[in-house]
Amino acid sequence: MPKKDSIHDNSNTTQNSKQLNLLKQHFPNCFDKEGNFMSHKMEEVVGDAGLELSKESYSLNWLGKSYARLLANEVPRTLLKEDKVHNTKEANKQSENLLIKGDNLEVLKHLSNAYAESIKMIYIDPPYNTGGDGFVYDDDRKFSKEELAKLAGIDEDEAKRILEFTSSKSNSHSAWLTFMYPRLYVARELLREDGVIFISIDDNEVSQLKLLCDEVFGEENFVANSVWQKRYSRENRVAIGTSHEYVLIYAKSYEQFQKSWNKIPLGEKQLKVYKNPNNDSRGKWRAVSLSAQGYRPNQMYKIVSPITGKTHIPPEGSCWKIVKESYEQLLADNRIYFGKDGNSIPQRIQFLKSVEGLTPWTWWTHEECGHTDESKKEIQTLFGTQTAFDTPKPIRLLKRILHLSTKKDDIALDFFAGSGTTAHAVMELNKEDNGNRNFITVQIPEKIDIKSESYKSGYRTIFDITKARIEKASEKLGDKSGFKIFETTPLFEGYLDDIAELNDDTKLFNGSNLNEEELETLLTTWKAYDGSKLTEPLVEVKLAEYTAQYGANTLYFMHKGFSTQALKSLMAKLDEEKTFEPSKLVLFGYNFDSKYQRELKEALNVYTNKKEIDLEMVVRY
Ligand SMILES: C[S@@+](CC[C@H](N)C(=O)[O-])C[C@H]1O[C@@H](n2cnc3c(N)ncnc32)[C@H](O)[C@@H]1O
Repeated sequence: MPKKDSIHDNSNTTQNSKQLNLLKQHFPNCFDKEGNFMSHKMEEVVGDAGLELSKESYSLNWLGKSYARLLANEVPRTLLKEDKVHNTKEANKQSENLLIKGDNLEVLKHLSNAYAESIKMIYIDPPYNTGGDGFVYDDDRKFSKEELAKLAGIDEDEAKRILEFTSSKSNSHSAWLTFMYPRLYVARELLREDGVIFISIDDNEVSQLKLLCDEVFGEENFVANSVWQKRYSRENRVAIGTSHEYVLIYAKSYEQFQKSWNKIPLGEKQLKVYKNPNNDSRGKWRAVSLSAQGYRPNQMYKIVSPITGKTHIPPEGSCWKIVKESYEQLLADNRIYFGKDGNSIPQRIQFLKSVEGLTPWTWWTHEECGHTDESKKEIQTLFGTQTAFDTPKPIRLLKRILHLSTKKDDIALDFFAGSGTTAHAVMELNKEDNGNRNFITVQIPEKIDIKSESYKSGYRTIFDITKARIEKASEKLGDKSGFKIFETTPLFEGYLDDIAELNDDTKLFNGSNLNEEELETLLTTWKAYDGSKLTEPLVEVKLAEYTAQYGANTLYFMHKGFSTQALKSLMAKLDEEKTFEPSKLVLFGYNFDSKYQRELKEALNVYTNKKEIDLEMVVRY
């Protein structure tokens, strides 16, 4: 029998296994034949690039950091299941929007192959760890202190202290950092090269988060720490009332992001300034200054008002912004303004239609980005109850973020969805600019307080609220893009123990007993692992009496019943159909006889040698 291949095997995962593999792959010369790392070889690589080796030893450390790195490297401990009833509805069938139920660390890992480097914008609004927002570290992974010490590369004493806090529902800074690190680490892998992440946060964790992001995204990729003015009225209860939060912004690559960010549309206040008192056929305009500080001899000419004959020179310490020839062109084009009386200092006329938008800055006022009262009202109006969700963000805040970072066909991800404001804002913005952006939102099925209004209205988890909001918002907006639902579910009982045994005699789990629904769940999980987008359906491929499934160049054999006829039919199809070019065949080992595994392998070997192509065969359990 071939070795059991599993996508859920964490037995070789350590806090640096993935990173070491990458290093070995890219810099094999830095390892000796025993696999030891030769740092002087790496210094040669870095030295050759003309970079200096920094001797600075500054770094962010916390209890649990090695454990957090282990969590970031682990493969998922769950399966991914689709909500078939919802997804096959006419409204959702073609949709590329996603709502996923589950712990976001698991979900991010499920997305990490199919959506690698494909997300333009991530927005998250994680628990702020205020002490009152219910954040506690929650983790059902079970390790002995010896196991954890080995996997995380730490001593047993440290492992013991980590296990104490991971099992004690802690809300320390260390616990919060341990929660955030692996999520940000995997999220970064989903971002496109020109992608960007926005993180809402307040004073409780902003300092920790900044250092954490420097570590995960690289200090050179820091974009800004914007201040969002969340309140518009003063609180009397406290010495100094808090009226703002932060939106911390990091790019995957600052260089690439800089090439792709957008200006933001003018708000009501800025638009009001543009008028058209003279009915200019070019539309509304405003007058902007023609002088600039400094002295440039060729910008120091006299300007004579053609209306009154008054002569103007630049104000003291200034020159005109443009040279005389340019001024004369503007004057001839009726783009110089001498005030209502024709006597004022000349200004340049700027037409509204030539204004691309405003260059964003870090000050995000409530007039432009909304405030918390507004967001509560938005959700109240939609649900018709007072308190459907306690901490929603305003749609305008999310629209600011989307405006800044996305074009019309981009994907936006929010993996702390809450009431689903990001999805709502995506749909609203698409409506405004005829866009086609897609959203992926993730929400854990956190239970709703039994005494709450939402509970009385029939909602049981926050996920139910996220889903309801997306439905209500799309109905209100007349959005027809729909959305698909997936959720994480636990691995089959005994499955991991069986994989660990790696032999045929263990009877802890018998995959050949899986029912149709379970096989579908396995296939959904595998297809995401192999790189198929969740919204892309697999296509059935008939091979004599046998049906295989095909997607993203991978052909899946999940069911029993593969036969010699199916094998012949497969080889004929490979040979004759030019458009049928799988690069990988995946067989569900429990349902595929070893006799046929061998026959298929042999037939493929002959075929690939003859055609000089690569076609991998994987027996997966
Ligand atoms: C502050 S709220 C987000 C509010 C959201 N921005 C809005 O406008 O409605 C944070 C959300 O993250 C969810 N959450 C917390 N931990 C999570 C996890 N591990 N996976 C997925 N969601 C999680 C919480 O249930 C909560 O709904």
